[in-house]
Amino acid sequence: MTDPILLTPGPLTTSAQTKSAMLLDWGSWDGAFIELTASVCRDLIAIVHAQDEHVCVPLQGSGTFAVEAALGTLVPKGGKVLVADNGSYCKRIVRILGYLGRAAVVLPHAEQDPADPARIDAALAADPQITHVAQVHCETGTGILNPLPQIAAVAAKHGRGLIVDAMSSYAAVPIDARTMRFDALIAASGKCLEGVPGMGFVIARRAALERSSGNSCSLAMDLVDQWQYLQKTGQWRFTPPTHVLAALRSAIDQYQAQGGLPARLARYTENCAALISGMRALGFETFLPDALQAPIIVTFHAPPDPKYDFTEFYRRVRDRGFILYPGKLTAVDTFRVGCIGAIGADTLRRAVAAVAATLNDMGIRRVGRE
Ligand SMILES: Cc1ncc(COP(=O)(O)O)c(C=O)c1O
Repeated sequence: MTDPILLTPGPLTTSAQTKSAMLLDWGSWDGAFIELTASVCRDLIAIVHAQDEHVCVPLQGSGTFAVEAALGTLVPKGGKVLVADNGSYCKRIVRILGYLGRAAVVLPHAEQDPADPARIDAALAADPQITHVAQVHCETGTGILNPLPQIAAVAAKHGRGLIVDAMSSYAAVPIDARTMRFDALIAASGKCLEGVPGMGFVIARRAALERSSGNSCSLAMDLVDQWQYLQKTGQWRFTPPTHVLAALRSAIDQYQAQGGLPARLARYTENCAALISGMRALGFETFLPDALQAPIIVTFHAPPDPKYDFTEFYRRVRDRGFILYPGKLTAVDTFRVGCIGAIGADTLRRAVAAVAATLNDMGIRRVGRE
């Protein structure tokens, strides 16, 4: 059986080289594994030019574990966090803050609107108790790109900490710590670096981390403890995801050999353009206008035809070799297609052909909402 192509925001399709990097077993105490961890952390920091003021703290688990660890470690118990909410991953941050017992101020936005720096500015001016801004960069629930540089400038102007969920943008959309101030930037192994899932990481401002001792209510999620142990021993505190890290090392080597961030962004932009133009030719409509669309994942309106049913549509496209992703919007019926992973525009064109054949099979005639 050939692997299906994953058109999802992670796990995603990985290269044969990345998969084969997992064929070796590593001893977690061994010098070679210690060097593997150190080299990956060095490269993760360099991708966002954060060598001067930041450190990298890796953490076992999926991306959400790292988001929760960053919020729980960096926001003190009496802290208050502003969240501009334009989608499901923003809402997840608000839920996490609730579990952590940290106060949240939510600025509701429509899901088709980018987070508004002027509203964030006004909210920070109005409430000096707000200690941090938590911002999702690419809101993967819709695929919208939020204006991170402008939001970072507003947070810096007010002297508040900025915690960025860059899960689906890191390594593909430029983020530069030399021109943008942040206390923490969170991402994971299995996204735009095209590693396998299983490890998150936080690029944290050293000074902010040093101030955060004692904030975390959880031992496993305490980034200060993880970082201090790593500094002292070169090792992870608890069983590390050895094979995930080895795959990530290989994925970063390939990323660098392919031309780093500009090349990754160019490939994903091409993938996204091929997907959108092909789907529009079939009559599909995108949820977002092109100007707000990040080249990561695209939300399409579901066809209004009574014969459309996502489960059946999904199954038939899957039988043709492509895995789609359900929509995450509450008000409108949608589905999503990812542009990221070890795939090129040709793969997206084949996926569009599979969608066309599926529409035909299911007898779906009305694709656009006109
Ligand atoms: C913006 C964003 N934040 C957080 C997450 C959560 O990551 P995970 O599903 O790995 O926990 C995702 C996953 O796609 C994401 O896109």
